[in-house]
Order: sequence, then structure tokens, then C-alpha cells
Amino acid sequence: MDILSQLSEGVCRLQFNRPQKKNALTAAMYTTLAEELEAAAVDERVRAILIEGQPDIYTAGNDVEDFLSQSPAGLDTPVFRFLRALSTAEKPVVAAVSGPAVGIGTTLLLHCDLVYAAQSARFQLPFAALGLVPEAASSLLLPRLIGYPRAAEKLLLGEGFGASEALSMGLVCAVLPNDELMAHVQVQLAKLVALPAGALRATKRLMKSHQASDVQAAMQVEAEEFISRLGMPAAREAFDAFLARRRPDFSGKD
Ligand code: COA
Repeated sequence: MDILSQLSEGVCRLQFNRPQKKNALTAAMYTTLAEELEAAAVDERVRAILIEGQPDIYTAGNDVEDFLSQSPAGLDTPVFRFLRALSTAEKPVVAAVSGPAVGIGTTLLLHCDLVYAAQSARFQLPFAALGLVPEAASSLLLPRLIGYPRAAEKLLLGEGFGASEALSMGLVCAVLPNDELMAHVQVQLAKLVALPAGALRATKRLMKSHQASDVQAAMQVEAEEFISRLGMPAAREAFDAFLARRRPDFSGKD
């Protein structure tokens, strides 16, 4: 099972579980994640959702081989179904990040409510270097969060950053020593579970409502651009280079 799910003490725990591929996300994994989020939305036992990886890896982002073999061709494909379910989730979503969180591993955090990082967490948005564009409304949300110039460093240059920078950016709530992350997350989840679910949902809805339609619109335009770029020479060169473990050569492949 590449995604583990468990309902325990009011928390739906979703765990990336493909460590041999650094938890790279396949279409099948997005489908499972979307189904789990959709089920959690209507399951009264679920009072909070956790999205976690393993101690040494959150996720390496979209599976590059999947990009080649089953590129998302429209907005009804698994990755966009997952992003819709996450970005419209009414129940509180908590993320626990250890190790690298690449691509969608970072952008999905922009839709979580409480994000906790281990000191080992590392974030990167290498979309342009893959011949692609940002997704998950990150082209909207990241500049709003950290200002345009810093967002440009992250999204144009794809410069990676560590847990302390993520904290100063406001991307994460707190940074914990690696071996204390999950205990802290457990405490925060227990607080959420004990609070009145209706008031939590209403508070989240109010905080998100001011930009909810902008977020969905951004996701749509990003997705159209993303899908068209997947088949272009620059992306193909980037994927081939990643799989062959060589540096990409973008000359003549804009
Ligand atoms: N898609 C498919 N396979 C991936 C992957 C991805 N996104 N990320 C890692 N893998 C695979 C590697 O190909 C390798 O497979 P192999 O053992 O069969 O050759 C395995 O996972 C281990 O990866 P490796 O790169 O050797 O591990 P690492 O510890 O040196 O580095 C990362 C880990 C996460 C830093 C690095 O794999 C990485 O940067 N991946 C991100 C790729 C990417 O650009 N993702 C964004 C997509 S939008």
C-alpha cells in the first residue's frame, strides 16, 4: 500500500508509504488520497486529518516516470482531484514534514492548516527546472505568503530551503527536533479533536473564504499551463535527465 490510512482517536491519518521511491506520488496514490479525503469529509468520526511521510522523507513530489507514462491530460485527473479535495477540505488538516518535501510535497502544505516540520525538513519547488509551472495555486499563495521577490527565488530558480527559513516565511507553524516532531503533532491533533468540530469548520471556512474562489481559479489556469507544458521538449528533457541521472540540457528546448 503506497498510501496508508488509519482512523484513530478522531484523526484520519494519511501516510505516504513508498520509501523506495522517496514517496514519489503516482496517479494511483493521488486517487487514494482523494478518496480518503472525500470519505473523511463525510465521516462524522473524523475530526481532523493528518498528512505525513516517513522520518527521512516527506515526498519527492510527482513521480517523474508517471509524468512520462500517464501525464495528467485534464482537470478530472487524479492529481487535480486530490488538490480539489485538499483545498476544499472543511475539517482541519495537519501536516508533519520530515526530510525533503519536493514540488507538490511543498505546495500541498499551502492548503494545510497546521504544518509542523522536523529540523531535517527541506523544501523545494523545482517546477521551472522541470520545464513546468507551479501548481496547487502556489503561484498565487506563495507570493501572498512571502512577497513576490522571495517567491520568485523559490519558483523561478527553484532554490531549496530548510526548516528555519520555512518557519520565517510562515510556511510552517513550528520546527521541532527530528525525534520530537510526531509527539508534538500528536498533542496538537488531540487539541483539535477536543475542540467543537462545528466551530473549527466555521473558523476555517471564514479564514479561507476570502480567497477561496481565487484559489480555485488559480489552480485551473495553472493546471492548463502545466498540462500543456508536460509534452513540451523542455519537460521531456528534464524528465529524461532525471531518470538518467544526468544534468538536463535545455539548449533549443524552451
Ligand atoms: N519520481 C520518480 N522517482 C523518484 C522521484 C520522483 N519524483 N524522486 C526520487 N525518485 C526515485 C529515484 O529515481 C530513485 O529510484 P531508483 O533507486 O530506482 O534509481 C529513488 O527514488 C531514490 O532517489 P534518489 O534521488 O537516489 O534519493 P536521494 O536521497 O539521493 O534524493 C530527493 C532524494 C527527494 C532529494 C531526490 O530524489 C529528488 O530531488 N527528487 C525530486 C524529483 C523532482 O524533481 N520532483 C518534483 C516533481 S514535480
